[in-house]
Amino acid sequence: MHALIKLFNRMFRPKGKKKERVKLSKDSVQKAKRIFKYLKPYRGVFFIGWIFLVLSSSAGLFFPYLLGQLLGGEQTASPGMAQSNTSWIEQIDFNNINTVALMLLVLFVLQSLFSFFRIILFTKVTENTMRDIRKEAFSKLIYMPMNFFNKNKVGELTSRLSSDITLVQDTLRTTIAEFFRQIIIIIGSIIFITIVSWELALIMLATVPVMAVIAVLFGRFIRKLSKEAQDATASSNTIIEESMMGITNVKTFTNESFVMSKYRKTIEEIRRLNIKSGNWRGVFVSFIIMCLFGAIVFIIWQGLHMTIGPDATLEKRDFYSFVMFTVFMGASIGSIPDLYASIQKAIGATEHLMELINENTENDIYKGDDNPTLKGQVSFNNVSFHYPERSDVQVLKNMSFEVNSGGKIALVGASGAGKSTIASLLLRFYEPNEGTYSIDGKSVDQIDIEHLRDHMAFVPQEVILFSGTIKENIAFGNPDANDDEIEAAAKKANAYSFIKDFPDGFETEVGDRGIQLSGGQKQRVAIARAILKDPKILILDEATSALDAESERLVQEALNNLMENRTSFIIAHRLSTIRKADEILVMEKGQIVEKGTHDELINMKDGVYANLNELQIQ
Ligand SMILES: Nc1ncnc2c1ncn2[C@@H]1O[C@H](COP(=O)(O)OP(=O)(O)OP(=O)(O)O)[C@@H](O)[C@H]1O
Ligand SMILES: [Mg+2]
Repeated sequence: MHALIKLFNRMFRPKGKKKERVKLSKDSVQKAKRIFKYLKPYRGVFFIGWIFLVLSSSAGLFFPYLLGQLLGGEQTASPGMAQSNTSWIEQIDFNNINTVALMLLVLFVLQSLFSFFRIILFTKVTENTMRDIRKEAFSKLIYMPMNFFNKNKVGELTSRLSSDITLVQDTLRTTIAEFFRQIIIIIGSIIFITIVSWELALIMLATVPVMAVIAVLFGRFIRKLSKEAQDATASSNTIIEESMMGITNVKTFTNESFVMSKYRKTIEEIRRLNIKSGNWRGVFVSFIIMCLFGAIVFIIWQGLHMTIGPDATLEKRDFYSFVMFTVFMGASIGSIPDLYASIQKAIGATEHLMELINENTENDIYKGDDNPTLKGQVSFNNVSFHYPERSDVQVLKNMSFEVNSGGKIALVGASGAGKSTIASLLLRFYEPNEGTYSIDGKSVDQIDIEHLRDHMAFVPQEVILFSGTIKENIAFGNPDANDDEIEAAAKKANAYSFIKDFPDGFETEVGDRGIQLSGGQKQRVAIARAILKDPKILILDEATSALDAESERLVQEALNNLMENRTSFIIAHRLSTIRKADEILVMEKGQIVEKGTHDELINMKDGVYANLNELQIQ
C-alpha cells in the first residue's frame, strides 16, 4: 500500500514542489504501516489474493484490445477452417470477428474466475484482520488509564472504533485492489498505444499530465472542504449523544428547544459545507468529462487521418483498439482522485487506530507484578495530588492517614473537598503526584494492579449499571457466582424485596445505564455487587445518600454486615451513618483539618465536625 501511494504521489506531484506533501506525511504513513502487523498472520492468503488481482487486472487489459479488434474486424470465416499445418497461435486471425468474439468470451470466463477468487480472498483477509484490530482496539480502550477518558470524549472514542474501522475495512477489501487495477490499466494502456502509434500516443499523453495536475490540485481543495463537513458532522453527533445521555436534564430544564436550536445550527452548517463541496465536486467532474471527451474527439480525428488513404500508417482495427485503450485509460485516470482520497482517509483512520492501539495501557504504566495475600492495612503518607488535566488546581495537599486491617475510616467534608478523589487514588485510577500509598506496608507500585483491584470493591457516588438484567449486574461483582450466591448477596444488600416485587424478579431489565431503576435501587444493586465480590478493602462513596430513612436503616444494616472483617472507607455527608467508624477524617479543601472518633470530634470546641453535627441534629 505504502509503495503504491508513494508511486502515486510521485506521479501526480506537480514539479518543483517535491518536498510538499499535503496531509500524507511520512509519519502518518509510518504509523499506518503498523497495520501490516495485523495482516501478517494472513499473508499467505493475502499474497494469493494479490496474484489473482494481478491476473484479473492484466486480463482486463485484453478487453479494450479485443474490443477494438472486434469493431475493426471484417472477415467472418469460421476459425476451424484455417489451414491445419500451422500452429494454433498462427491460426489466430485478429481480422476474423468470430475468432475475436470467441477470445472475448474466453477472456470473460477467465476474468470472472480471477475476480471471484480475488474478492473472496481479500474479503477473508480483511475480515480476519478487522476482527483482530477490533479486538485489540477495544481491549486497549478498556485497559486505558482513567485519565485517558478525561482527555477523550466517549463519542469520539466510539467513532474511532466504528468509523475508522469501516474505512480501513473498505480500503483493504476493495479500494487498494481498485487502485492497483487502475494503475495497471493506465500503464498497460500507455505501453500499448505507444506500440501502435507513438505519434498518436504523444498527442494523447500531452493532454493527460495537464489534466492530472489540475485534478490533483482540485482534489486537494475538495478534500479540504469535505474535511470541514466531516468535522461539523462530528460536532453535531456530539450534541445528539450528549442530549440523549442527559435526556432527563434536557427535559427537566425544558431545554428541548435550546438543544434543538443548537443542533439546527450545526446541521445547517453541515448542509452548507456539503453543498459547497458537492458543487465543487460537480465542477470537478464536469471538468474531467469535458477534457476527456475533448481529447478523445481530437485523437479520433487525428487517428482517422492516419488510417485513410493509400499511405495509411495505421490499420483500422488497431486504431479502434487505440481508441478503446484511450477511453479505458481516461476512465481510470478520472477515478484515481476519488480512490486516492479514500486511501488517504483510510491512512488517517489507520493512523488514529494505531495511535489508540499504541497508547500506554494501565498494564504498561503500572509495572508492579507482586501478588501478595492482602490483609488490608492502608496508609497514605504526605500524598499530594492534582488531576492531570488540571495541573493548576491542587486537589489533595499533604494527606496522611492510616487504617489497620479491618478498620473503618470515614471521610467527611464539604462538596469538592476531595473525598471522591481519595477513592479514586485508593483504586489507583490516578497516581499521587507526591507522597506514598502503601498496603500492608508495601508500596502499591510493587503490587499487580489487577490483583489489587480484585481485592477492592467500590460503590460509587453515581451508580451506573450496564444494560442487562439485575442478575447480570449483581454478577458483575463475581462472574463465577451461582444463582444462590447472587440471591444471598441481594438479601444482604436489602435489595431482595424490591427485586422480588418486579414481575420478572432477577431477570428484570434495568435499561440503559440502569435508567429503569430508582437511585436507591441502583445503589442497593451496586452494594449487592460489592457484597458478592467479597473484597478485603471496601470503598463506599455516599452509599446511603439516595435512600429514605427506612431504606437507609436497612442498607446501613447491610453495610455494617458487609464491613465486618474488611478495611472500609466510608464517604458520607450524613454523619449518622459514620458514628461507628474507628476514625473520622474531616476534610477541607484537600486537607485533613480534624481527625478522631465521633465522640472525640463532637467534643471539640468550635470544631468543624462538631458544628456540622449540630446542624444535622437540628
Ligand atoms: N476528573 C477530574 N478532573 C479534574 N478535576 C476534577 C476531576 N474530578 C474532580 N475534580 C476536582 O477535584 C476537586 C475534588 O473533587 P471530589 O470529587 O474529590 O470532591 P468530593 O469531596 O467528593 O465532593 P462531593 O462531596 O461533592 O462528592 C473538585 O474541585 C473537582 O472540581
Ligand atoms: Mg464525591
